[in-house]
Amino acid sequence: SEYATIEVERRGRVGVVTLNRPEALNALNTQLMVEVTAAASELDQDEQIGCIVLTGSQKAFAAGADIKEMQSLSYMDAYRSDWFAAWDRLSAVRTPLVAAVSGYALGGGCELAMLCDVIIAAENAKFGQPEVKLGVIPGIGGTQRLTRAIGKAKAMEMCLTGRMMDVTEAERSGLVARVVAVDRLMEDALETAATIAGMSTPVTMMVKESVNRAYETTLSEGVRFERRVFHATFATEDQKEGMTAFTEKRAPSFTDR
Ligand code: HXC
Repeated sequence: SEYATIEVERRGRVGVVTLNRPEALNALNTQLMVEVTAAASELDQDEQIGCIVLTGSQKAFAAGADIKEMQSLSYMDAYRSDWFAAWDRLSAVRTPLVAAVSGYALGGGCELAMLCDVIIAAENAKFGQPEVKLGVIPGIGGTQRLTRAIGKAKAMEMCLTGRMMDVTEAERSGLVARVVAVDRLMEDALETAATIAGMSTPVTMMVKESVNRAYETTLSEGVRFERRVFHATFATEDQKEGMTAFTEKRAPSFTDR
């Protein structure tokens, strides 16, 4: 493989990116950040791919930013290199991203999962923003995305104490879409991803863009945005195919890519 810290495979129309630094519980060092963002961008550009799954190991999705790499950074090092800003490239990926989370998703690992569009969690998953215990704060969007995902009360408490949240609480709080048995995680995530990848790709991109709009704007502007995009779906072949297939009582075959 062209990568050292991740594995990338294509399973039909689903791209799978697996974090692979087992010796550090998939801690997110610079190389891993460069590789994940490059692989995700490449899959995003690939017309054969309609959904991307991001996963780690059974023990750890990712145990956070690499503490050993950060330990001796100066303010100037962090500022001038815009430490970790490259992760923003993941939010520019238009293809839907599914995080399949098993084990620890801590700090940058929790933030990475929240950069994805859907989080599917195994029963052993643990989420947390423990940065405060290291004398820093979340730096890949944790204070913002966790607050929007689970609300101020829980996000504030999690970020101030650094405690971990188990899957029962994570699902109840709206952080994860679904909880599945540990040994069913990949099967389930791949099935979900294949379902998404089987839809019209421009239409799933429009769904993603529209749902994400809810985080960026007022309700009336968001509804207006949705309406424009809804109208735009009528410019696709896939709208004709989807509705024709329904009336002909057959499965649709989407071809717009
Ligand atoms: C570097 C890490 C690491 C990390 C684990 N390791 N997490 N290395 N950075 N974030 C390494 C350990 O040093 C150890 O290496 C090996 O992985 C196995 O970890 P153990 O601690 O021995 O495993 P265990 O006892 O099972 O405990 C698991 C754990 C613990 C609870 C997840 O590893 C842990 O607390 N990790 C740190 C979690 C954390 O604070 N994350 C937030 C990071 S800050 P050796 O060589 O000793 O075997 C962050 C900031 C984001 O994410 C924003 C930045 C801009």
